[in-house]
Amino acid sequence: MKRSASITAAVLAISATTATSEAALTTYSLAPPLATDQKENSMTSKILVQYGSLRSNSVSHKLALEVQRFLTQFGVEAIVADPNLPLYDEELRDDPKVQEYLDQVDWADGFAWISPELHGTISAVMKNQVDWMQLSVGAVRPTQGKTLTVMQVEGGSQSFNTVNLMRQMGRWMRMFTIPNQSSIPKAYQEFTEDGQLKDSAFRNRVIDVAEELVKFTKILKDKVGFLTDRYSERVESGEELAERMNLKEAV
Ligand SMILES: Cc1cc2nc3c(=O)[nH]c(=O)nc-3n(C[C@H](O)[C@H](O)[C@H](O)COP(=O)(O)O)c2cc1C
Repeated sequence: MKRSASITAAVLAISATTATSEAALTTYSLAPPLATDQKENSMTSKILVQYGSLRSNSVSHKLALEVQRFLTQFGVEAIVADPNLPLYDEELRDDPKVQEYLDQVDWADGFAWISPELHGTISAVMKNQVDWMQLSVGAVRPTQGKTLTVMQVEGGSQSFNTVNLMRQMGRWMRMFTIPNQSSIPKAYQEFTEDGQLKDSAFRNRVIDVAEELVKFTKILKDKVGFLTDRYSERVESGEELAERMNLKEAV
């Protein structure tokens, strides 16, 4: 059995035997994928998991915590961002909550965005977090070259609107959005009392997505500088970019 396949099997085995034990999930240690490439394995990748709801019983929050657990199983550091930020307003950038959040964005090598679908689209809470991410620092977008995966939960029977829109945002922010994604319909039915995903094809997909995000993040991590170096940015100063993007007038 290939190494990565054995890892997935191990995660599934854990969940089958410890479905109610969060402690077992978080303490079980799995070697990261790509064991043949020691260079990639020697670097710990960091993933920021973000969800788009402020509800106390939020399903996207439950999914974010599950994704954090799965990512940890695959050998990366993962934290879940607090979505409760002020509405985007450049004058509030010094707000301690915003600063803490932006530090987490800088810290991360990759992102998992998990939004509920509301009125056929991304939630305002999710979009607000993305709006706080800086468009440019000098001539560079701070998100460029980082990895992204997109997931959505919805109350209805199926939709991909929200993941598609988040892909579009990832492209705008020059992130590498991985091919795999997850959309969980009737998501309120899919969690156990203690907040874990029930055994299902949706759960398997979420694990696949977590594994793929880890692999892409590890592969790309030390190549980001090379991949994102662009002629147009070498000739354009930050000042000129701000001018072209109308930033001075806009913010
Ligand atoms: C205002 C509103 C609009 C919604 N629109 C949709 C929708 O367009 N499609 C859908 O499948 N579910 C829709 N839902 C259901 C939500 O996707 C579902 O309740 C989801 O669990 C909310 O995320 P949360 O639990 O993380 O807060 C809507 C719910 C609300 C409150």
